Amino acid sequence: MMQKVSRNFFLSLSKNKLLNKSAKRWGLKLGAAKVVAGVTVEDAVEKIKDLNDSGRMATLDHLGEFVFDKQEAEDAMKAGLHTLDVLHEHRVHCNLSVKLTKLGLDVDEDLCRKHITMLVEHAAKYDNFIRIDMEDYAHYDQTLVMLNELRKKYDNVGTVLQSYLHRGLEDVEQLAGTPLRIVKGAYKESPTVAYQNKAEIDRNFLTMIQTHLLNESYTAIATHDHNIIADVKSFAEKNHIPREMYEFQMLYGFRNDLQQSLVDEGYRFRTYVPFGKDWYGYFMRRLAERPQNVTFAVRGMFSK
Ligand code: FDA
Repeated sequence: MMQKVSRNFFLSLSKNKLLNKSAKRWGLKLGAAKVVAGVTVEDAVEKIKDLNDSGRMATLDHLGEFVFDKQEAEDAMKAGLHTLDVLHEHRVHCNLSVKLTKLGLDVDEDLCRKHITMLVEHAAKYDNFIRIDMEDYAHYDQTLVMLNELRKKYDNVGTVLQSYLHRGLEDVEQLAGTPLRIVKGAYKESPTVAYQNKAEIDRNFLTMIQTHLLNESYTAIATHDHNIIADVKSFAEKNHIPREMYEFQMLYGFRNDLQQSLVDEGYRFRTYVPFGKDWYGYFMRRLAERPQNVTFAVRGMFSK
């Protein structure tokens, strides 16, 4: 009960426009520096080099979402092109994760389509990959439509499916052959579209992962849940799924020991590395997922 109240509390804070705006001026505060790799791409690249040295690949996320202004959307697209250039210059093993709302989905769908196409094309020149993060359900259909359009022309793009959605498994089947990251889901969704109960979300999560693997489709399993990870490992072994067909992913700053032990056991592993001045909504969603993370925030208030 308390966990649900605190989840809803932090999710509503994550959407507070005034706080999101003010936080851009604060710099990384409230302990966010432990889970956000800096404000500039150059800061983030240094962290990615360390991850690569430890055997982890990375995916970089320039934080920001819910953009309602054409200029901001264009700036985000240009920043994305620049980020791809920087990743290439530094020869780091890192792809890019993007959010369509940041590229203007709520401003003008065609503008957003133009922006995401430019990013996917630019990434293709560098033999790099773009992952379209999945946002709230209000943007779900538009995201899948845009992904399917892109996939007709480019193979260096994929997306994310969420197991809290009732339709998650159906969409996994529809997207056989497309590289997918599969997650539990981070937003507050209505019971008409989403499971509310952990056991159902977990069950669907495993089924979706197993289905995509059995469809011989590249699968990124993004979770900090050691039980799910153990189940996936034994499923893959029993079904002779080669390790090149999947990777585990976790967020920067979380379960570092578990991240490293997966690498040491020989699994492909990728850390999701967020950076940028728009850290507030991302950080509040992490607090919503795991109230224990609030200790980050409390400690952060007392340190620089
Ligand atoms: P969950 O929070 O369900 O925890 C399960 C159990 O794992 C806990 O009870 C605990 O035992 C253990 N555990 C979890 N965190 C721990 C910690 N920090 N320390 C110790 N034990 C811990 N969502 C979305 O909607 N769209 C997206 O595009 C993405 N993208 C994405 C990328 C990556 C790389 C990750 C890891 C996650 C996402 N997510 C996401 C977020 C995702 O949907 C989900 O909200 C979070 O990952 C939380 O769920 P988990 O499966 O990690 O564990």
